[in-house]
Amino acid sequence: MEQNREITLEFVRVTEAAALSASRFLGRGNKEMADGAAVDAMRGMLDLVDMRGTVIIGEGEKDKAPMLYIGEKIGNWSNGSPEVDIAVDPIDGTRLVAYGLPNAISVIAAGPKNSFMNIPTYYLKKLAVGPELSGKLDINAPVRENLKVAAAILGLKIGELTVVVLNRERHQELIEEIRIVGARIKLINDGDIAAAIATALEGSGVDMYMGIGGATEAILAAAALKSLDGEIQCRFWEENEEEKERASKANFDLDKKFKMEDLVSGENIIFSATGITNGDMVEGIKFSGPKAITHSIVMRSKSKTIRYIKSVHDLRYKKIPLKSLDKEISLTFNRVNVG
Ligand code: FBP
Repeated sequence: MEQNREITLEFVRVTEAAALSASRFLGRGNKEMADGAAVDAMRGMLDLVDMRGTVIIGEGEKDKAPMLYIGEKIGNWSNGSPEVDIAVDPIDGTRLVAYGLPNAISVIAAGPKNSFMNIPTYYLKKLAVGPELSGKLDINAPVRENLKVAAAILGLKIGELTVVVLNRERHQELIEEIRIVGARIKLINDGDIAAAIATALEGSGVDMYMGIGGATEAILAAAALKSLDGEIQCRFWEENEEEKERASKANFDLDKKFKMEDLVSGENIIFSATGITNGDMVEGIKFSGPKAITHSIVMRSKSKTIRYIKSVHDLRYKKIPLKSLDKEISLTFNRVNVG
């Protein structure tokens, strides 16, 4: 994947288009429609990219997802174009978009063949941190121990640490433990890719991300943390019977601690995310008259360049290609029918 300098910026256009398309359904209470719109636009834009791409992490298995299914070929497949493995989450936080809540993003990551680990389970237990804490904590250690070590390394009192946790029933014990030790907790409703990445972004106010979340989201977070010198450690979540069955069928190592190099290998990983609604990682889309302003973050692990891209889109002129219609559509927000 040598020509990927140019591809890097192409990917921003991909996540921008997905985010803009999804934002037509902001707050309309229908997460499937928001997701469908993001997928369709992302798929349409990807067709224009000069690459021979294969979806490794996508919307699901071929028979369950009409687009961006695992194994789907994307890109224009022109002769001599780079072979690229792709991981996507057209919306991380579909419910957030459906209810107009903060923290929703559109995400893509790309790398040379076999860059992304194939995880058979839906969930993983995760611990993500920024560069200063990278390699210093252990997902298998007691929570209190990790908090103590983190505070000491960052030169903070434990009460000055901020830990992000998904607001889920399964995290009651974890939340209780963090509270007892005394760190601050920021509970999020959804969207743990951005939460994990925020730990490595200066000024985000987030020191650690802990808890059980989606496995594909872990891979996408790792793809970004690679450029940021941050870290995500993961392991199997042992308390769920369904996951145990899925894991044992796939001979998944239940005791292994998965590190960055297991989740995302290779040195040439591209990551792009565009905010749909405001979050700790990027701002959401702002509408101003006929214009929409998007905020994206894009990075390449080889050069470790992190770009923040603010784009102003004039919706009177803006068109995005939708794969399902095989044509470009205007993004004017006049009327969208929600079933
Ligand atoms: P979706 O947008 O695909 O619904 O994912 C949102 C999310 O919050 C992820 O960020 C997170 O990893 C996962 O769901 C957690 O799963 P669950 O909602 O089942 O707890």
